[in-house]
Amino acid sequence: MIEVRNLHFAYDGREVLKGIDFAMGRELVALVGPNGSGKTTFAKHLNGLLKPVKGKVLVDGMDTKEHTVAELSRVVGYVFQNPEHMFFEETVFDEVAFGPRNLGIEGEELRKRVEWALKAVNMKGYESRSPYSLSGGEKQRLAIACILAMKPKYLILDEPTTGLDARSERSVVNVLKSLREMGHGILLITHDMGLVLELAERVVLIHGGEKVFDGPVTDFFSLPLTNYGLSKPELLNLAEETGVGFVRTVEELVGALEVKLR
Ligand SMILES: Nc1ncnc2c1ncn2[C@@H]1O[C@H](COP(=O)(O)OP(=O)(O)OP(=O)(O)O)[C@@H](O)[C@H]1O
Ligand SMILES: [Mg+2]
Repeated sequence: MIEVRNLHFAYDGREVLKGIDFAMGRELVALVGPNGSGKTTFAKHLNGLLKPVKGKVLVDGMDTKEHTVAELSRVVGYVFQNPEHMFFEETVFDEVAFGPRNLGIEGEELRKRVEWALKAVNMKGYESRSPYSLSGGEKQRLAIACILAMKPKYLILDEPTTGLDARSERSVVNVLKSLREMGHGILLITHDMGLVLELAERVVLIHGGEKVFDGPVTDFFSLPLTNYGLSKPELLNLAEETGVGFVRTVEELVGALEVKLR
């Protein structure tokens, strides 16, 4: 369980998180809100990259103020919004192997772990490439693979599909779905409402450093989203216009329409 109690945080005296309470277990929670609302700042508290000015963050009972980022990262993996600066190894293989090596994994098990993580992000065959020679989308997928390879109980992904083409986005979505099936807790930060609709079990909305909504995805989409600079996915508008209730995917909409027209 990740627990956040009355979290306050300020950069240079300017308060950007204003008393947030939050808890999550093994579930997929989408964290949404306009630019600058505090999502990344909030997420960086969950594995100790930032420490609360006031309030508390507990990761499986560990107070983030009393544990190092290295310790906390074994439990909570964080994929940065802009991963360019996180690479330091000469090859993609070594980059992905770095985390598991630190956990004491080696030999055949290590090789398998790296292979699995690269396959999950559709990057098999990149093992000997230099991380710096990769395209933006490839770097983003590599960053996800690096965290996956450590198999942390909780994963936080900060806009993991921004800038990815449709095919790479699908491979990331499929990874998230299978991680959920394996019982991992996932916090997905995204501006893509289609993705929220497809994947989220619960949605948390941050606005101006405050949590203004925390509830099931169905309730989230009945909020006046434009007030928060967000918009409803076309799919939901279409479902409403055609008199079908709430659907999460195109397949569900088509299925519901077939029943209706029968
Ligand atoms: N290192 C920093 N120093 C000073 N101010 C910062 C720093 N990082 C973020 N901020 C400010 O804190 C506020 C929240 O930023 P944050 O990055 O958490 O927002 P966000 O919700 O992740 O936005 P986006 O959707 O654009 O990624 C913004 O006003 C931002 O300008
Ligand atoms: Mg951000």
